[in-house]
Amino acid sequence: MSTSSPFEKRKRELERRREHALAGGGAERTKAQHAKGKLTARERIAALMDPGSFQEAGMLVEHRCLDFGLDKQKFPGDGVVTGHGTIGGRTVFVYSQDFTVLGGSLGEAHAQKICRLMDQALKVGAPTIGLCDSGGARIQEGVVSLGGYADIFLRNTMASGVIPQISVIMGPCAGGAVYSPAITDFILMVEHSSYMFITGPNVVKTVTNEDISFEELGGALTHASKSGVAHLTAPNDLAALESVKKLLSFLPQNNQEKPQRRETNDPFDRVSPELDTLIPDDPKKPYDIRRAIEAIADDGEFFEIAPLYAKNLTVGYMHLGGEVVGVVANQPMHLAGCLDLDASVKGARFVRTCDCYNIPLLVFEDVPGFLPGVKQEHGGIIRQGAKLLYAFCEATVPRVTVIARKAYGGAYDVLNSKHIRGDANFAWPTAEMAVMGVRGAVEILFKKEIAQADDPVEKEAELERKYREKFASPYIAAAHGFVDDVIEASHTRARLIATFKMLSTKRDTNPPRKHGNIPL
Ligand code: HXC
Repeated sequence: MSTSSPFEKRKRELERRREHALAGGGAERTKAQHAKGKLTARERIAALMDPGSFQEAGMLVEHRCLDFGLDKQKFPGDGVVTGHGTIGGRTVFVYSQDFTVLGGSLGEAHAQKICRLMDQALKVGAPTIGLCDSGGARIQEGVVSLGGYADIFLRNTMASGVIPQISVIMGPCAGGAVYSPAITDFILMVEHSSYMFITGPNVVKTVTNEDISFEELGGALTHASKSGVAHLTAPNDLAALESVKKLLSFLPQNNQEKPQRRETNDPFDRVSPELDTLIPDDPKKPYDIRRAIEAIADDGEFFEIAPLYAKNLTVGYMHLGGEVVGVVANQPMHLAGCLDLDASVKGARFVRTCDCYNIPLLVFEDVPGFLPGVKQEHGGIIRQGAKLLYAFCEATVPRVTVIARKAYGGAYDVLNSKHIRGDANFAWPTAEMAVMGVRGAVEILFKKEIAQADDPVEKEAELERKYREKFASPYIAAAHGFVDDVIEASHTRARLIATFKMLSTKRDTNPPRKHGNIPL
């Protein structure tokens, strides 16, 4: 006969239920998860959060489905671990799908747990992080699962621009399930163990007769380099979670706050002599714009976003005088830093992300224009380029531009010019601002003169020299006040820090309206 007191019995009952929940899908499935090089849902949370800070909610939630044998397969927690805790001392809400439980599939109860978490995160104004590892809609629960996804999509949309939302894809993410991460601010993917697609390789083969592997169709590197769906990739779960922590350090808790300051010993007035010779004498020669960004950033640290996609536009975060700044920079190493379809959309998205989370913008400009070509025109460079223009025009955060070299054509206007509310624009002495590049301009303006000249080659060279003297400098723009000052490249850091400090109390608004109509 048991001599346990009622208190001990109740305690054991609670412990038994907790142990059941903590076991997830059981030892075998956990082993299989590890064999794929993946951590379990709880191991991921432990690696992500400050030690001991995670407070779980809904550990004992179960599904109510009785169909297809599910009545005999109940797992406390229903395949997703949800709760809040801290990262670097800041409150965040996390859900982590447990692939060992019914393949991490999403049914009614699973979805309700995620929705409750999102509702709470929105109320308290804290970021959400989703660790996705799921077979998608739970097939046995049918349309109820689809409804669950829709409930999440709605919340993702309502929270968009209010609290940062980060998605980490750490396993399958297929079908309509991809649209929750797609609405969030950032997607990180783990290389070789995660994939995202609307329909998998088998359906693709049936419908279009194309042969493609999971990895090629929707793996991390595909989405990071070709589709632009993924912002960052990592070689394994732990590295991905470290990236999340880093990314979070640049974001505020919500749209009412600014990102946290990070103190630095890097002198505010540090001179970067290497920048005075960064720009090659030959205007056609490329150089790495990252060298300029890193030379100016606090401690030389730059956190690049989407480094493998549209490489002609470099975007990312750095600290400048302790404050977070979002950087948009033409990268002359790729396509001469032109704006093309992908770069326009990449830039527009980044600018809007910074604007909604109160992150000041710094533009490093060296742009020969929009990329010409049939593919570009037929791909809608008018519409896509307009997105970038629109994004800059509507942004109300502090905005500063440094024109390093070329600022040609429409791209001059688009890239945060003073005309579209850029707050402060500086040019290095190497800057050239003109309607178009020297050769193109001379060929159009002096076509007849060149053709009629005794020595057309010599004539063209002479006219190019004249055009260059007149326009290929920052001084006409400076005379018009289109740039605030021409500065020595080596002194850029101090000038930017002083300017962003002045702008830190900037207030600007757009006209009241339901929402603008960005050309999507
Ligand atoms: C219920 C599921 C499931 C699902 C997997 N499982 N996906 N259970 N609903 N959607 C279960 C499996 O039955 C299995 O259970 C366990 O999870 C592990 O799955 P395996 O197939 O053994 O694992 P693996 O070989 O790694 O393959 C993983 C997988 C595959 C590629 C994800 O399971 C799969 O193709 N699942 C279906 C994916 C899918 O089509 N989902 C619907 C997408 S559409 P046991 O008990 O055997 O361990 C969608 C619509 C969303 O999600 C719409 C929103 C609007």
